[in-house]
Amino acid sequence: METVVSGIRPTGELHLGNYFGALRNFIKMQHEHNCYFFIADYHSLTTHPTPHDLHGHVKSVLINYLAAGLDPEVSTIYIQSDMPQVAELYLLLNMNAYIGELERVASFKEKIRTQPNNVNAGLLTYPTLMAADIIIHRATKVPVGKDQGQHLEMTRTFVNRFNRLYNVEYFPEPVAYNFGEDLIKIPGLDGSTKMSKSDNENSCIYLSDSPELIRKKVMRAVTDQGPTEPMQAKPQPIINIFDIMAAVSPKETLEHFEGLYNTCQIRYGDMKKQLAEDVIVFNAPFREKIQELSSNNDYLRKVAKHGAEKAVESASKTIKEVREIIGFKSF
Ligand code: TYM
Repeated sequence: METVVSGIRPTGELHLGNYFGALRNFIKMQHEHNCYFFIADYHSLTTHPTPHDLHGHVKSVLINYLAAGLDPEVSTIYIQSDMPQVAELYLLLNMNAYIGELERVASFKEKIRTQPNNVNAGLLTYPTLMAADIIIHRATKVPVGKDQGQHLEMTRTFVNRFNRLYNVEYFPEPVAYNFGEDLIKIPGLDGSTKMSKSDNENSCIYLSDSPELIRKKVMRAVTDQGPTEPMQAKPQPIINIFDIMAAVSPKETLEHFEGLYNTCQIRYGDMKKQLAEDVIVFNAPFREKIQELSSNNDYLRKVAKHGAEKAVESASKTIKEVREIIGFKSF
């Protein structure tokens, strides 16, 4: 049995990228491993320092987790800020994290571009907090999408540095995980290579989207005039619709449209209609459970409390041992 950790920032509803990149893997692992799945509310402040409804977003992510099939009886589901021990580990790791290496992280460089008026220290040290999230439970596997690969590399760097500096074999090296396959990236409906709510709301399909909204978003997805030669290479927006179809539709449906594309007979209107209906079928059970859970505050409170207790127990043990390793002693 291995220890598994992953988390999602509460910046809105969860979309298909979050599901296929992280949640789905996690749900498959929860019965065989010691799993911790959390809501990264401290992290969300790096981009939304004065969130208008932090609690509402945390609640909606918790509901999405449960609706997607995370089982609070077998996994530890918790809210990051309910386990403040992670902040102490973050502080300790920051003492051995260097400005130069943090400045080179791709996600930091991107944030400098996208939020030039708020390049805060939390953004720079985002990878140390993420490393603390993972190693506070001494995890070895981290189910995430492709965009998190570099953060996992940083985590391994911090782990090795800690072990070397204090001459211990305390923290194991964690790996980004997707069942032996390459890490996944679900593209957007707007032609961008990653489905992401920060880029464009319309590029995302949320697990809670209604059938009408799904039809509207999918039918608006970017396409072109179609191929003019058999077996022509696909441009990015077309790759995107095929990739989304590969995630949600039956294999035969995908093969059918691949065949039409390769023989220049494809009509994107038909393909998008089919894709919309398949997304609706895919989303239906999630949407139903999301609605069911939304008004069940007592249950949500119970889940969060139970998760916090289990998470704090694990984190406190690590912090106690880390303090001993570094040399903090009480009189
Ligand atoms: P976040 O909140 O941006 O995304 C949550 C998870 O969803 C995955 N993901 C995707 N996967 C495939 N295709 C996409 N289009 C797509 N969009 C998002 C992300 O890879 C991620 O797994 N830094 C993390 C949150 C975090 C974390 C952690 C994760 C904080 N601490 C510790 C794991 C372990 C983040 O911003 O994810």
